Amino acid sequence: MPIVNRVADLQPDIQAWRREIHQHPELLYDVHRTAAFVADKLREFGCDEVVTGIGKTGVVGVIKGKKPANGDLKVIGLRADMDALPIEEETNLPYASKTSGKMHACGHDGHTAMLLGAARYLAETRNFAGTTVVIFQPAEEGGAGAAAMIKDGLMDRFGIEQVYGMHNGPGIPVGQFAIRTGPIMAATDAIDIKIEGHGGHAARPHKCIDSVLVGAQVINGLQSIVSRTIDPLDSAVISICEFHAGNARNVIPQTAELRGTIRTLTEEVRGLVEKRVREVVAGVAQMTGARIDLVYERGYPVTVNHAAQTEFATRVAKEIGGEGAVGEMPPMMGAEDFSYMLEARPGAFIFCGNGNSAGLHHPAYNFNDEAIVYGTSYWIKLVENSMAA
Ligand code: NI
Repeated sequence: MPIVNRVADLQPDIQAWRREIHQHPELLYDVHRTAAFVADKLREFGCDEVVTGIGKTGVVGVIKGKKPANGDLKVIGLRADMDALPIEEETNLPYASKTSGKMHACGHDGHTAMLLGAARYLAETRNFAGTTVVIFQPAEEGGAGAAAMIKDGLMDRFGIEQVYGMHNGPGIPVGQFAIRTGPIMAATDAIDIKIEGHGGHAARPHKCIDSVLVGAQVINGLQSIVSRTIDPLDSAVISICEFHAGNARNVIPQTAELRGTIRTLTEEVRGLVEKRVREVVAGVAQMTGARIDLVYERGYPVTVNHAAQTEFATRVAKEIGGEGAVGEMPPMMGAEDFSYMLEARPGAFIFCGNGNSAGLHHPAYNFNDEAIVYGTSYWIKLVENSMAA
């Protein structure tokens, strides 16, 4: 079966909502306008319950099916993200961002609109048993909005038993999906390193502790962790992306600062990398006599798809796009805070083809409105198939 027919009728509305949201991008938890737009629509659709202010600005809609309860699964959660990015839009679209320096460069405008479309259909037809909970979260882009909603009782309060997420995928043809069981996106950790050496005259290095050289040794040491500590069949990335020191060619600077990011695909490797980073930094400090302060901050966990739910999501996606429409994707080293929801409940995260668009977080990126019918149909079929009577 291809896309849901009624969704084709709804497409112009969903596209209009998407473009409206696109023009008014908001960052992190500051998604007040978008959240109000979502809550208004959910009320208009006749959701049984609309709750705002979960995880600061998160919105939840509850839709009860009309069929008698049947089977094990009684409450399913579907999640979209609402926040944009601090990027200056360069698309020249007629509906481009009206706020300079902010843009929907990750397609969360499309995610929000598609889940609204599914909510409208499900509230209208209610052709399922059990309860659907549509979740609109703030602060996916670095603010852990999913964790904030969970902390506010999202899962328990609404009795959510399984949870599903979706992201658009540039480079994946429209109408196709990509998914995998197990780790699908990486954990992301941040490191900040402050080096205190001993500054002085560039011509008298023996009287100094050169913070630039210490920084170089720290970087070299860190870059040997992936190549010489981690099993070659495991995955890890250590990228030091900032190195600040000095402001004169003849002065050895007193201090240097390094900042970077670490990505891993299992908790074991994550723990091992952290341990080795701490050892390398301590070792270089001892070797050079510099003082080195390390702040190691754990960010989003690994996004791990559960086997049974991934298999189910794959079947549903094939139903929408056809047998050949679902590819098994390799894990990505990017991160996603849906990981917190998958730690709380079983579920699956899927990518929905965005066609040949610019990449995510690029100033020329745009969500592909042609993907709307596929993503929305996926949500609907996920509910109707999981909670059929
Ligand atoms: Ni995103």
